[in-house]
Amino acid sequence: MSKNFYWPVGSNEAKDRLGERFSQLHLDTKISASHAKPLTNADPVVVPIYHSSTYRFKTIAQFDEPNHGSNFVYRRCGNPTTENVEVVINEIEGGAGSLLYNSGLAAISAVFLEFLGAGTHLISMSPIYSGTSSFINETLKRFGVEVTFVDVEKEANFAEAVEKSIKPNTKMIYFETIANPTMAVPDILGTLEVAKKHKILTCIDATFSSPYLIHPLNLGVDISLHSCSKYIGGHTDVIAGVVTVASYDNWKKLKLQQLTTGSSLSPYDAALLTRGLKTLALRVDRISENAQKTAEFLESHPKVSHVYYPGLESHPQHEYAKQVMSKFSGMIAFDVGSAENAIKLVESLKLIIHAVSLGGTESLIEHPLSMSHGKQLLRDSDGPTVAPGLLRFSVGIENVEDIIGDLKHALDQL
Ligand SMILES: Cc1ncc(COP(=O)(O)O)c(C=O)c1O
Repeated sequence: MSKNFYWPVGSNEAKDRLGERFSQLHLDTKISASHAKPLTNADPVVVPIYHSSTYRFKTIAQFDEPNHGSNFVYRRCGNPTTENVEVVINEIEGGAGSLLYNSGLAAISAVFLEFLGAGTHLISMSPIYSGTSSFINETLKRFGVEVTFVDVEKEANFAEAVEKSIKPNTKMIYFETIANPTMAVPDILGTLEVAKKHKILTCIDATFSSPYLIHPLNLGVDISLHSCSKYIGGHTDVIAGVVTVASYDNWKKLKLQQLTTGSSLSPYDAALLTRGLKTLALRVDRISENAQKTAEFLESHPKVSHVYYPGLESHPQHEYAKQVMSKFSGMIAFDVGSAENAIKLVESLKLIIHAVSLGGTESLIEHPLSMSHGKQLLRDSDGPTVAPGLLRFSVGIENVEDIIGDLKHALDQL
């Protein structure tokens, strides 16, 4: 080892700041000074986890400078590790700013609470993620927000049905790029035309398509959001959400709200997103390829009555999907005829894991009626109906032959 490989005497910020006085401090004070940052020339390749809950001010005057001289005062209000991810996602999405939240639902509820209020009217696509629909039905309605659900499957022309639902107090149109759990795809471009014509704010949950496949803001959406717990994180080890807005004014409103509601993301979770994001394109390319082949296999299988995958020509809204995506992500819904068959199938799988959630490297499957969407059905009397035999399948990055082999084996048990 070279003599210069290591310097035995390091330096740290407390020592540098206190100079001679550092060596005169009491032992227990010196020990407690271990918090001070090291002074090194190190230039880490990976953004470090800044876990400090507070930041030093050099002068009182600094507090009065724009952004207090830096964006960082107190962790709830801003954190370098978190901000790094916000900058990257905003760049991918082409927005005026992004904000990370401590879950996808925290991101969704922040948007609803900021832009809707008593006496305003929301038009929401249906079906949507059950947690979102619960928030709309149980919280927004309680705060005096009027809601109209427009069924993306029943309505032959979704954009026209949205337009027919507009009232003088309609403030927001909310939809998903691909509906959870049925994989219906709304006419995004048609709906945006309607929204622009009537000057109504649009917000889309693009979780299922990921920010790699669709860029909603470039299409004219005002607010794009994701549960980062899915494709962005990509490794089933983080719960987070992100909102990206087209207008800086809207970003400021959400940022001010976040300071007071305390919904920002922890830097540990932001570090997981930093890592996950790096392979988003690789993962979603592989997953889309696997999903297309798996959907084609399922479509040809006699025990499967319906397959819903936006990349299949048989998908009722395949043409709408093609308008906004060239690949179709990894979410498939398929019907095996009855709840009994569905349950038997998930319990017979060996490689594919029976669990809620989606968008990770591993293939996951769930039965919406028993798991993610059962409660929603009980709450929305006029809400969507999820077929009893429907399964929601999140295709992973495994070798597609093994995914298909596992499904084939389980289907043979029915
Ligand atoms: C489409 C969609 N949006 C939002 C969410 C909520 O995200 P989170 O679980 O990160 O709160 C989910 C969760 O499954 C989802 O599927």
